[in-house]
Amino acid sequence: MDTFVIDGGKPLRGKITISGSKNAVLPIMAASLLTSDFVEIENVPNLRDVHTMAKLLTWLGAKIDCAPPRLTIDSRRLRSFVAPYELVRTMRASILVMGPLLARFRKARVSLPGGCAIGARPIDLHLKGFQALGAAISLDAGYVELAAKDTPKRIVRLPFPSVGATENLMMYAAALPRQTTLLNASREPEISDLAAFLTAAGASVQGAGTSKLVVRGAARLQGVKHRVVPDRIEAGTYAVAATLTRGDLRLLHARPDHMAAVLDRLAEAGARVDRDVDEVRVSADRRPRALTLTTMPYPGFPTDMQAQFMSLMAVGDGTSVITETVFENRFLHAAELTRMGADISLEGRVAVIKGARCLKGAPVTASDLRASAALVLAGLVAEGKTTISRVYHLDRGYETMEKKLRSVGAAIRRKHG
Ligand code: EPZ
Repeated sequence: MDTFVIDGGKPLRGKITISGSKNAVLPIMAASLLTSDFVEIENVPNLRDVHTMAKLLTWLGAKIDCAPPRLTIDSRRLRSFVAPYELVRTMRASILVMGPLLARFRKARVSLPGGCAIGARPIDLHLKGFQALGAAISLDAGYVELAAKDTPKRIVRLPFPSVGATENLMMYAAALPRQTTLLNASREPEISDLAAFLTAAGASVQGAGTSKLVVRGAARLQGVKHRVVPDRIEAGTYAVAATLTRGDLRLLHARPDHMAAVLDRLAEAGARVDRDVDEVRVSADRRPRALTLTTMPYPGFPTDMQAQFMSLMAVGDGTSVITETVFENRFLHAAELTRMGADISLEGRVAVIKGARCLKGAPVTASDLRASAALVLAGLVAEGKTTISRVYHLDRGYETMEKKLRSVGAAIRRKHG
């Protein structure tokens, strides 16, 4: 297992090109199962999760040419409607094939994903949504079995704006030749990107970016050539890196309109933020101010940026409070940051961070994708050497992170384990 070795204290200066969005490309890859025509996706990030999804689609019978930033999918001849446990357990986003398989075969058998480091992450909202659209659901030996039934039901109200449930139900509805309405849908930019893909394929999706989606599906969807939006969380992570190291970074291709909550809070912490149409520049020359943050569904402050901001607040000028409302166990990075000298106390979903003058490098262990990013950020600003083990977590969601950071002055290298 690979390790990162970082010598902290170097301000980051220069330009970083932001890759395509992991959380946009994964549902769009699943959506390609909805058509038997050729699908071409551009701006695909070279990530472990993309290759895992490609493996699952191949297992189902699709022909994939996965050569990021380009990826083509030909699912003319699918041979199975079963998503096996061996593949689903390695990546929760595999459950996004549920809607497309149910649409394509009118039945699907998908392994329950199981929990992960940040929480139980059930799929009850997905299943209740499919039932609201007439599907029969049963559980069997750790698998969910779905069977489509003709029904006049056309409205789903999500109790919580779940990103994955919105995506699964939107994809299923895109293949139903009728109008379906999703209420309390999630509003993330990745939902809008998927909606653009489905619309290009011949469905009509209205209201993307709002909590009410009206989908008019088509019995036959056609092939699409689609360019994935830039990754707003990757961009946010490097924006924090610029602020933390008192550097000056230009983030090329970043979409400030997708990052408003994050950029506003960085400015509040004292960073200088310049927003252009497809570029964001972030610089800082002082210790960050303390903040009070609460994670919320989009357009609120994103849970996927919570860990990174905890690293920032670890050296903040004062006491910060972070409340995590989206996941039940997303403070795994706190213990590792404490080993680097951070002063963090946890009470349920609330973390209180007393800013330290500096952090000290230490050997730490990554636990989940964004917690790993938080440890890299802490290592960049800590005095001395930080070694981060299990960086395979990072490779799931950050394309060549050490190369991008080295290109702007970070003393970071990957040790192959
Ligand atoms: C997506 O996960 C993202 N993953 C996550 O990013 C992100 O943190 C999350 O949305 C929230 O923004 C992808 O897009 C591949 P949810 P998803 O359904 O769809 C509960 C990253 O770091 N819930 O909005 O799984 C759930 O347990 C990853 O890139 C149910 O209770 O998120 C969680 O507490 C991590 N029942 C909350 O809702 C359900 O049926 C939000 O989950 C579904 C969800």
